[in-house]
Amino acid sequence: MKHKRSGNEKDIPHQYDSNVEDEKSFHVSDIELDLHDVEGIGPTTAKKMKEAGITSVMDLAVASIEQLAVDINSSKDSAALFIMAAQKLLRESNVLENEFVTADFVLEKRKSMLRCSTGSKSLDELLLGGIETQAVTEFYGEFGSGKSQICHTLCVIAPRPMSEKGLDGTVIYIDTEGTFRPERLQQIATSREFDPMLVLKKVSTCKVYNSSHLELIVKDLGRYIHEFNAKLIVIDSIISLHRAEFTGRGTLADRQQRLNSILHKLVRVAEIFNVAIVITNQVLSSPDAFFGDPTKAAGGNVLGHTSTYRIYLRKSGENRIAKMIDSPYHPYSDTRFTINQKGIDDLEDIRSRKKKIEGDSD
Ligand SMILES: Nc1ncnc2c1ncn2[C@@H]1O[C@H](COP(=O)(O)OP(=O)(O)OP(=O)(O)O)[C@@H](O)[C@H]1O
Ligand SMILES: [Mg+2]
Repeated sequence: MKHKRSGNEKDIPHQYDSNVEDEKSFHVSDIELDLHDVEGIGPTTAKKMKEAGITSVMDLAVASIEQLAVDINSSKDSAALFIMAAQKLLRESNVLENEFVTADFVLEKRKSMLRCSTGSKSLDELLLGGIETQAVTEFYGEFGSGKSQICHTLCVIAPRPMSEKGLDGTVIYIDTEGTFRPERLQQIATSREFDPMLVLKKVSTCKVYNSSHLELIVKDLGRYIHEFNAKLIVIDSIISLHRAEFTGRGTLADRQQRLNSILHKLVRVAEIFNVAIVITNQVLSSPDAFFGDPTKAAGGNVLGHTSTYRIYLRKSGENRIAKMIDSPYHPYSDTRFTINQKGIDDLEDIRSRKKKIEGDSD
C-alpha cells in the first residue's frame, strides 16, 4: 500500500473541509492503494480485474457483485468476498468509516460535507445550502422546467473555490439527450464574471448514445473521477435511453433491474469518492390522479427509493417552482427561481429584498 503524498495518514489532505482539523478526513484522489493489497487477490485476479477496468481498490469497493463475477469469471461468492475485502482495506486506511460509528461522528462528518451552490439563493435554501457531495440529487420535471439549466449552472459554479460556494474540482457531464451546450456555459460564466475559458476546461463531457454505453460509463466512473479530479458528476438524463430502448411490458423488469444497478453504483460512488452526483429525470402523466398534480417521476420505485434527494421542478409562467419531494432530512417545502443569462437565478423581487436586508444589517 502506498500513499502518493506520504505513508502518514495525518498528511493526507482533508476531504470535507480544508479548515477542519480531523484525522479521519481524507482526499480520495491522493491515496493510492493497490489491488494487490486486498486480501485474497493474487496477480492473476488483479490482472483480470485490470482488464475489466477495475484498476484501483476504490473501483473494486464500488463494483457490483454480479458484474464482477462476470468480469473475472468467478462465482458470486468470490466476487462478494473481494468487494468486502476491498471495503475492509479502505476502512483500515481511514478512507471509509468503520462499519459502526457513533451518531456524533456521523454528525461531525456531515457538518463538514461539501456543498455546491445552484446559482440561486432560494434554491440553495431549499437544499439547505446547495447540492451535497456523498449524495445523489435528482431533479425531475416536464420539458423546459429547467433541469438542464440547473446542470449547466452547476458546471460553472462547481469549479469555483469552496469560499465561493463551489467544489474546487472539475465536472463530468454525461449527456444522454444531446442538450449539453458549451456556449451556454460561456454565457453563464461571462454573466457571473468568471473566465469562460477556464470553466470550459474544467468540464469534461461525454455524449452517450445507448443504454449499454451509459452502463459502461457508469461502471468506469471511479476511474474517470480519478483522471479528471472530478467533484461533480451530472447525468442529464438518467432514464431517457432506457426508456426509449426498453419498450413494451415484457422488457420492464429488465429495464428496472438495469436502472437499479446504475443507481446503486452511483450512490456508492458518491459516498466513496466524496463527489456530488446530479441526475435528471422525466415525468409521466398519471391520469388516475384525481387531486393535485397529475404528473409523477419516471423510473418508478427504483429511482424513487435510490436517489438521496428528489426535487420536482414545475413551470410557473416565466418562473419555475422547485419542490423538495423526498429527503431524509429536508423539510417538505418549495421555492421559486428563474432562468436567465446567469443560468439559474433568484427572482428579481427576492434579490432586491435580500439586498435590502443585507443593507439594513450593515
Ligand atoms: N439564455 C437563456 N435565458 C433565459 N432563459 C433561458 C435561456 N436558456 C434557456 N432558457 C430557458 O430554459 C428553458 C429550457 O430549460 P431546460 O433546457 O433546462 O429544460 P429541461 O427541464 O431540461 O427540459 P427537457 O425535459 O426538454 O430536457 C427554456 O424554455 C427557456 O425558458
Ligand atoms: Mg433537458
